Amino acid sequence: MIRINEHYTKLKASYLFADIARRVAAYQQAHPDKAVIRLGIGDVTEPLPPACIEALHAGTDELAHRETFHGYGPEQGYAFLREAIAAHDYAARGCDISADEVFVSDGSKCDCGNIQEIFSTDARLAIPDPVYPVYVDTNVMAGRTGSAADGRYEGITYLDCTPANGYVPALPAPGVVDLIYLCFPNNPTGAVAPREQLAAWVAYARENRAIILYDSAYESFIRDEKIPRSIYEIPGARDVAIEFRSFSKTAGFTGTRCAYTVIPKNLTALDASGKEHSLHALWNRRHTTKFNGVSYPVQRAAAAIYTDAGRRQTRALTDYYLGNAALIRAAMQKLGLPCVGGDNSPYIWVNTGRDSWEAFDRLLNDAQVVVTPGAGFGRCGENHIRISAFNSRENVETALERVAKAL
Ligand code: MLT
Repeated sequence: MIRINEHYTKLKASYLFADIARRVAAYQQAHPDKAVIRLGIGDVTEPLPPACIEALHAGTDELAHRETFHGYGPEQGYAFLREAIAAHDYAARGCDISADEVFVSDGSKCDCGNIQEIFSTDARLAIPDPVYPVYVDTNVMAGRTGSAADGRYEGITYLDCTPANGYVPALPAPGVVDLIYLCFPNNPTGAVAPREQLAAWVAYARENRAIILYDSAYESFIRDEKIPRSIYEIPGARDVAIEFRSFSKTAGFTGTRCAYTVIPKNLTALDASGKEHSLHALWNRRHTTKFNGVSYPVQRAAAAIYTDAGRRQTRALTDYYLGNAALIRAAMQKLGLPCVGGDNSPYIWVNTGRDSWEAFDRLLNDAQVVVTPGAGFGRCGENHIRISAFNSRENVETALERVAKAL
């Protein structure tokens, strides 16, 4: 008889944001007259930049004629997009990344979740807490952990981010981890990593032959020019890091779907016999086997982000959400609640000092505002909520008035 992958039984019953969506749907069904404002999942609300829409239309029109029609494209992405990424996101910031080190995909969630497939099942993991749940759950599915007890899986080295350490995790002891997940600007705390902090992680990975999986999906919200936007701004990172980037939050592509992953060609890891293998080659093998590329019009739309108009428009879009973030942060501070994030990030991490699911329920029931309970991101998220700045200004202002009354 066929049996299931039993590692799935170690997971919580549902994925965090699916769980929240279910609770909100139940509330709405019971209270159809109440207008709920969503500051929970980081889903954008504002339209795509005009430059992207124009490119999307033009790309679609090309598909209407045999002469300009496109069928399967290169699995790794069209050269026009990979070259724009390498030039604008890397060369322009002094990073040595070439177009053929970029793999275009339909989302960072998939890439962050799938990347673990190219590593051995006994790879030792370092994962921050709180954290974007995809990193943990996909490793549980793959069998890299034991069962969960007290909100933590056996076999993971958790990197605690707490008010006591300013939400900056300490480096693990030497030689105890192989794969390190880092995310800056951080989801959920909104914290950014100064250059020295990233340099310490790169040095750790180099000394311990570890690989850093660097999720930089929110880099376009960084306004402090001293903060690195890419891990490849740190010398030596090419030898130890894979980077994930997304157009979802940068340009409103959450529904349009386009992202990319960078794997430098010199990045290697060993097999059981001690032979060195290129991680770029392994990921290329996986990508070409399991993925047939992002649609042509969507890649055209993504490339339009790098035109002069596209850059202006995406900057205006991220500025708009950062304006919301500043309002949220100020409102929380006025309520006397300590918080971080929101200045170089669309997320504000608020220390409410009370059970985080209780805070979630209270805000949903009394203010009709959806936030994300911190405990959903890990044990260290308890007593916190994450508020997302992704909504219209009007909704954010209304939500903040309601939250002030409810708390
Ligand atoms: C979040 O709210 O953490 C993100 O929107 C989730 C995602 O990007 O998958």
